[in-house]
Amino acid sequence: MIVRLFDEKEHAQSYWKYRISPSQEIIDMIINFLQKHRSSPQELELAVDVGCGSGQGTVLLGPHFTKVVGTDVSPAQLEMATQHATAHNITYRECPAEQLPMADGSADLVISIAAFHWFDHARFLKEADRVLKPRGCLVLLDYSIIMELSYGDCSHALNDICKELYAALLLYRNPYLGANCRDRYKGTYDKLEYPDKEWHEELWVRKTVPLSHYMGMIQSLSNYQAMQKDDPEKANQLSHDITHRLMRAMGVSCPETELLLSVRYSGLLACKP
Ligand SMILES: C[S@@+](CC[C@H](N)C(=O)[O-])C[C@H]1O[C@@H](n2cnc3c(N)ncnc32)[C@H](O)[C@@H]1O
Repeated sequence: MIVRLFDEKEHAQSYWKYRISPSQEIIDMIINFLQKHRSSPQELELAVDVGCGSGQGTVLLGPHFTKVVGTDVSPAQLEMATQHATAHNITYRECPAEQLPMADGSADLVISIAAFHWFDHARFLKEADRVLKPRGCLVLLDYSIIMELSYGDCSHALNDICKELYAALLLYRNPYLGANCRDRYKGTYDKLEYPDKEWHEELWVRKTVPLSHYMGMIQSLSNYQAMQKDDPEKANQLSHDITHRLMRAMGVSCPETELLLSVRYSGLLACKP
């Protein structure tokens, strides 16, 4: 089964505009892991970013590989990714994660960022194993929607308001995801029969963004999109109220005021034997 929640053009646009991507430190950690476990120091040939969405993670891989292919089932997301592709070595393919159009043993890296939880896990893991070269690496990352905001001395008050927002969104969590994504990733890590593997619980990405940008990111979440489909007025009211309460707590009148957004990634890095 393919869960299609990311197919609308407007959603894909807000994805490109607001979604956070891994930091350079996380990319460097992945490349170092790959290099550490390789048998020969040849150039890294192919990276496949599965469930690439609008490609904000895919573009970060460009400088490290001869070729990077982003794959996704959503034509709208891929159109956005293609519009913003600047490097000649990055291309995009429309295909399910469980059926990748790559030859056996062809990829140095198969990575999925904030997408593995939507896949058929067993079929995808088998497919990733098929596509990876021996000593190639599988990387599965996700980030928590419980994000932290910092602004002057009112960070505590901001995060209390955000907790109410996350609780409201939780009611619209897609049942396919189960109770906790982090446990699914950790469970996959525990069961993965690749002896060289690492689990990372806390990889923080911090970025200064306007408050409006944080709210844009919230609105791009699948929970918020589900609420908006179910009850558009409720979703708009929630977004409006939270924005105004955050501005009041910050003592500002403009939603373009910048604050520090901290996003916690976690996930696994594993090397195929
Ligand atoms: C939350 S987005 C993550 C996008 C991007 N990797 C990022 O870091 O923001 C999840 C993406 O996975 C894609 N997706 C969901 N199920 C899929 C499947 N079975 N095969 C391929 N892509 C899938 C969706 O279309 C969506 O673009």
